[in-house]
Amino acid sequence: MSRKTADDSAPIALSTAFASFEELWSPRIVTRVNDYDVRVAKVAGEHVWHAHDDTDEFFLVVEGELHISLREDGAERTVTLPRGSVFTVPQGVEHRPYAPSGASILMFEPTGTLSVGDRHEEIPGHVDATTGHALDA
Ligand code: NI
Repeated sequence: MSRKTADDSAPIALSTAFASFEELWSPRIVTRVNDYDVRVAKVAGEHVWHAHDDTDEFFLVVEGELHISLREDGAERTVTLPRGSVFTVPQGVEHRPYAPSGASILMFEPTGTLSVGDRHEEIPGHVDATTGHALDA
């Protein structure tokens, strides 16, 4: 792994990280913790239904409000995360984040985790299928 991350030598303000890019649904890696990435993303509108077969996925809402629809045991429900809220999507559960008014979020998941999961619906053009981009802040 040679990807440059912001944790090489200095702390980074999340506000600086968020100010360094504009792309939606396109996570940046701000630091790593053992085998996990801490990623931040700007989001608006809908992501795609997907599931991560091998890992939970942690969300923290830094700004705005995020909704996550979940399909569990044949039923669908939606959780709402106002600013400052945390939620973990369990491993294997189909989910679709969306943010009608936009949000800035932080995610915590194993390095290499694909943003659209291991199973997903057709990926719309506005969703970046990525394991996270280096932060250039
Ligand atoms: Ni996910």
